[in-house]
Amino acid sequence: MQKVSVEQDYTMYNEEDHNTWLVMCKRQNKLKEATVCKAYLKGFHDLKLDITRIVRIDETSKLLESITGWTLTPVNGLIPTRDFFYMLINQVYPITISIRKPWEIDFSEQPDIFHDVCGHLPLLTNPDFVKFLNAYSIVALKYAGNDRAIEALGQLYWFTYEMGIIVEDGDFKAYGGAIITSEGESLNLQNNDVPKYPFDLGKIFRTPYNPFKLQKEYFYINSFNQLFNSLDTIEATLAEYLQSFEISKINITEKVSI
Ligand SMILES: [Fe+2]
Repeated sequence: MQKVSVEQDYTMYNEEDHNTWLVMCKRQNKLKEATVCKAYLKGFHDLKLDITRIVRIDETSKLLESITGWTLTPVNGLIPTRDFFYMLINQVYPITISIRKPWEIDFSEQPDIFHDVCGHLPLLTNPDFVKFLNAYSIVALKYAGNDRAIEALGQLYWFTYEMGIIVEDGDFKAYGGAIITSEGESLNLQNNDVPKYPFDLGKIFRTPYNPFKLQKEYFYINSFNQLFNSLDTIEATLAEYLQSFEISKINITEKVSI
């Protein structure tokens, strides 16, 4: 594995950067009590995340390690997929060091430290969620050479890790990082016109998504334990999906040849 970790030189951030962090955290704070799951809120508190200054990754990493044994490593944005999964298997989570510019507060195409920390990090304090992430990564790496399988597994990643919702006290709450850091997605949780389906691996494998638009559907779980336990059948469900794809390909070929 090539070296993808870098140093977080804290002097790289100027006051404008810290202010961007503060503005986004304050905006998120307004929404999050009502829209974000309890495990996230607890994790945010336990990690002592400071909304006024950009986090120091090494300090937060020590705290996280004392809770679930996971550690953080600073990186320069997106890293190769295989490296990412190797890290997750080894209970290391990459955090992008850069922060978006003030004009990107509403939307940034690239991950930044705000998305990685305020979107994903608090959930890494939840033992069941990190068990899921770890086990998922092992499967994802195993199928790394199979494009069709990786696409399906990417959809699972999207509808859980980024766009996952959980039922708490009868309400839909977000645990997916892309909902937690997006006002539009958060508002979708209360919108009854946007369907929310029970978590179903087979259905998720057949559901494509557009990362650049508000989502048209979501999948909900009832507990993080349910998410982890779903992996018991992941390879069987994936095999079934891949087989059905092959069968439909044969049918299309037959129709063409007629
Ligand atoms: Fe993300």
